[in-house]
Amino acid sequence: MSIISDDNEFQTNVHEVKAKKNPVTKPEKIECDRNFENCIRPKSFDSYIGQSALKDTLKITIEAAKKREQPLDHLLFYGPPGLGKTTLAGVIAQEMGVDLKITSAPALERPRDIIGILMSLKGNEILFIDEIHRLNKVAEEILYSAMEDFYLDMTTGKSQTVKTLRVPLPKFTLIGATTKAGELSGPLRDRFGIIHRLEFYTEKELAQVITRTAGILNIEIDEKGANAIARRSRGTPRIANRLVKRVSDYAIVKNNGKINEDIANTALDILKIDEFGLDTTDRSLLRLIIEKYDGGPVGIETIAAAIGEDVRTLEDVCEPYLLQSGLLQRTPRGRKVSPAAYRHLNYHTLKQNSNQQTLF
Ligand code: ADE
Repeated sequence: MSIISDDNEFQTNVHEVKAKKNPVTKPEKIECDRNFENCIRPKSFDSYIGQSALKDTLKITIEAAKKREQPLDHLLFYGPPGLGKTTLAGVIAQEMGVDLKITSAPALERPRDIIGILMSLKGNEILFIDEIHRLNKVAEEILYSAMEDFYLDMTTGKSQTVKTLRVPLPKFTLIGATTKAGELSGPLRDRFGIIHRLEFYTEKELAQVITRTAGILNIEIDEKGANAIARRSRGTPRIANRLVKRVSDYAIVKNNGKINEDIANTALDILKIDEFGLDTTDRSLLRLIIEKYDGGPVGIETIAAAIGEDVRTLEDVCEPYLLQSGLLQRTPRGRKVSPAAYRHLNYHTLKQNSNQQTLF
């Protein structure tokens, strides 16, 4: 059965893309390929799948802010990458009927970067700062008064002649996003009115995301095909959407562009994404701990050096799902694999750790 979505936004997205069509080269597809993430981003709560508890809270907050004719409280979203923090900021701006400015903490290196962006804001606008845990101290202190009382203290002159100028700002909403809420300073965290964790998606939700994306991209997919991709998407819509494209490439070559369960499974096997959604890096990490460190614990720096990845990628990208799925454990003495990881990687005969208990 092919799934055809009745999501109105499909039509909007497709029209946006088709408006740029050149009849000779059919660039509507190219346009969507280049701006793939933007093209498929939901723009309203109706088309935003998953995170239902958060959506319910936000709908109330937005309605109340509109009735009060005030900007929204500052919001902090945290959780693993790819779960839709930026997308949600876009949805909120759209629902509030205001503009959204997007930046990220590493781009706000000098004081004038953050001052410039704050002074460019218009009333009620939303400023989205990604990776906000990486904000430097100076930028963070500039944000305190901007967030709390909507002003900037600027200094002019040098040493004895220094003067402070208080510059009012329009009321705005800051949406901060981070994969590491624990690395935010207390004073910054305290200035957010709403702090919410984004959860991994269920397979059912991911299958809906996949079906929606396939609809926008004009890819034919049946229910079992969507479920097969969902199972290997590590609870993450960004990964699900990437896999839809890769599986679609395979389907175009092998099955007239149609994705079914068989095509999805074969394409994902070729991509070396296993039934748990683990890729070669995940498996190398687990195998290293099992084979070289007797199941762990072992420090993350040692793991990173041994498999040739940087620590931040392992911590931010690989680990959240391995921890959530119970394959990996974080202990004060380092990372340990679980019996489930031994099972998953077919180390049936190995014995775990120093107590030498046979596991299986
Ligand atoms: N694409 C990425 N995230 C999505 C979501 N939450 N809902 C629908 N489509 C998406």
